[in-house]
Amino acid sequence: MEKLAVIIPAAGSGTRMGSFKPKPFIILGDKPIIWHTINAFLKLDSLIQIIIPTSEEWLNEVEIICESLPKNKVQFDVIVGGSERQFSINNGLKFLHDDVDLVAVHDAVRPFIDWHLIKKVCKRALTYGGAIVGVPAKDTIKKVGENQTIIDTPNRTSLWQAQTPQIFRRELLTKAYNSAIEKDFFGTDDASLVERIGGDIKIVEGDRKNLKITYPIDLKIAEMILKENEEI
Ligand code: CTP
Ligand code: MG
Repeated sequence: MEKLAVIIPAAGSGTRMGSFKPKPFIILGDKPIIWHTINAFLKLDSLIQIIIPTSEEWLNEVEIICESLPKNKVQFDVIVGGSERQFSINNGLKFLHDDVDLVAVHDAVRPFIDWHLIKKVCKRALTYGGAIVGVPAKDTIKKVGENQTIIDTPNRTSLWQAQTPQIFRRELLTKAYNSAIEKDFFGTDDASLVERIGGDIKIVEGDRKNLKITYPIDLKIAEMILKENEEI
């Protein structure tokens, strides 16, 4: 079986949420958001390592959260992240265990990821080199320029919203990150870095429950989803 590592970036400051604590540490139900996220990945047999980049002040808190998770054989590395998500992931890549074949990147603030879906994306990534979760865009997307003037309306039928996990063969992701950092290229997700070096990446249709907790309204929705999941 392939060996999987997941990098769970948790070094953001949560500007859009405007909360006192960074988002991964906000309590959802009775546990921090990141606890739910890590717990979903622990259900995968192929998982051998979890790397969590976070800010220096939160290193200790993440260690405590990791200890409170169900007992497992996975190696945890809690490390210092960077000023941008891309730098946090790049720091994480340096800690990969030698045996790892596939690397997943999954936002700490997407706690409702289903492990069956992660498995499906892993399979695709093994075959093609890279695969990510996404959903077809539900709103019409506008390209907007200066003075809030609309420049273009791309055809919605070909537009998808990228989510995480984004999973790649180890060599491909490492090469993409090294190249992006060297050339000062910035992308808002991992796939865009791999696309840049010509990688073949598939998108797997995911679940709208896999929301990224970003604004206060998302936290309210998350509480509702958690309640519903507990009732099932
Ligand atoms: N992240 C990170 N390092 C950064 C910025 C973000 O590890 N320098 C992480 C966040 O902690 C989060 C994930 O990347 O788990 C997705 O980022 P986002 O939702 O944008 O979170 P924040 O950057 O914290 O929020 P905001 O953009 O509103 O400040
Ligand atoms: Mg951000």
